[in-house]
Amino acid sequence: MALKITVIGTGYLGATHAAAMAELGFEVLGLDVVPEKIEMLQRGEVPMYEPGLEELLRRHVAGIEGASGRLRFTTSYEEAGAFGDVHFICVNTPQKHGEYACDMSYVESAFDALAPHLTRPALVVGKSTVPVGSAARLAERLAAAAPAGAAVELAWNPEFLREGFAVQDTLHPDRIVVGVAGERGEELLREVYATPLAEGSPFIVMDYPTSELVKTSANSFLATKISFINAMAEVCEAADGDVVKLAEAIGHDERIGKKYLRAGIGFGGGCLPKDLRAFMARAGELGADQALTFLREIDSINMRRRGHMVELTREALGGGGFLGKRVAVLGATFKPDSDDVRDSPALNVAGQIHLQGGQVTVYDPKGMENARRVFPTLSYADTALDAVRGADVVLHLTEWREFRELDPATLGDVVAERRILDGRNALDAALWRKAGWTYRALGRPSA
Ligand code: UGA
Repeated sequence: MALKITVIGTGYLGATHAAAMAELGFEVLGLDVVPEKIEMLQRGEVPMYEPGLEELLRRHVAGIEGASGRLRFTTSYEEAGAFGDVHFICVNTPQKHGEYACDMSYVESAFDALAPHLTRPALVVGKSTVPVGSAARLAERLAAAAPAGAAVELAWNPEFLREGFAVQDTLHPDRIVVGVAGERGEELLREVYATPLAEGSPFIVMDYPTSELVKTSANSFLATKISFINAMAEVCEAADGDVVKLAEAIGHDERIGKKYLRAGIGFGGGCLPKDLRAFMARAGELGADQALTFLREIDSINMRRRGHMVELTREALGGGGFLGKRVAVLGATFKPDSDDVRDSPALNVAGQIHLQGGQVTVYDPKGMENARRVFPTLSYADTALDAVRGADVVLHLTEWREFRELDPATLGDVVAERRILDGRNALDAALWRKAGWTYRALGRPSA
């Protein structure tokens, strides 16, 4: 009989995973402790913007016309325990308030709430990003609390999906990493992932600690790549070089590669920044802090980009204060094709200028609602054109396609000054300059 799957925690990761499991043919029960989230999902609505996810969900949610009916939702752990053969834990592990370490309380409550309802053989699979050593500890806790005892196994199966590509990354993962302590875990996960395995996704089996480390080291490497190119941008600015050309040229070396070398205002979001910090904190606890001191530098290069963008804006406005100056900000999300503003460099820059007295107006294609919630004192416009009306300078801070398609001449007619700063190195400099704009970008020559 086909495996029955539960997905605990229906945020980005869980909602996508639940819909993907239903797409792969399994009966799926999604669980969240927030009833409003469950009600939305039951209606086939996704609580965030993620391309393709709502369509995927609506293809499977029970009660939606024409849907397979394989996907249902609940708030009851009792129901989840009775239903599932495989339980995926997908709750988040945010940064602790005032500390580098990550907050494990959601993971721990999920395990504690589920365990008493595991009365028959089952596999619990952790997907959340956790400090190394957590899986071994949670396995013991599970064995002690589950009525089925040793018949309940734990596996760790980190997730590598990118926001904006979550559906694609979940259905066609570039690798499946599995940390196990016994054979049953591997067997069941091979069954769960039979379709991507048949497509050729590599399946890499290892112990718990290695699987936990794979996730944090992958994100640390990605962050390092971005901060490397941003450090080169700083040097380019001092030497009058061009970081975009530099990245293109070094990227032809296959060992370096072209991807993830876009210089700009740096990385943000709910993963990279907090994962770096949690990794450093954990290495410290393990007595291996020296190995990761370089990540401190990666973090500070990254945070410096935001301040640098503010200073470039000040310079563009003549070098004085921001008081009375109108600044248009295009982009609020941490990256395009997402409505996520968590630790967004764009919103951070907008906020800094606003707090220094600038009149900042923000426009973002999908992130307005979330941005308003985080930063209600900024002004928001309904379109890019409205945002730039009367602006003394325009900042391009999230590289949405919509912004690349803007007509510099049309915008030029409504701004006070044709000045644009490209914080993402994504606009066509020649096009903007031809339309009479002063165009500047991070790490590139000014003219
Ligand atoms: C990241 C990883 O890419 C995923 O593999 C991982 O699964 C995920 O974190 C996670 O841990 O859950 P995500 O946060 O969605 O995914 O975003 P990325 O596409 O990695 O971008 C992160 C930030 O880096 C963005 O702010 C982006 O603008 C910035 N970035 C990216 C650059 O500044 N330059 C680049 O060349 C690439």
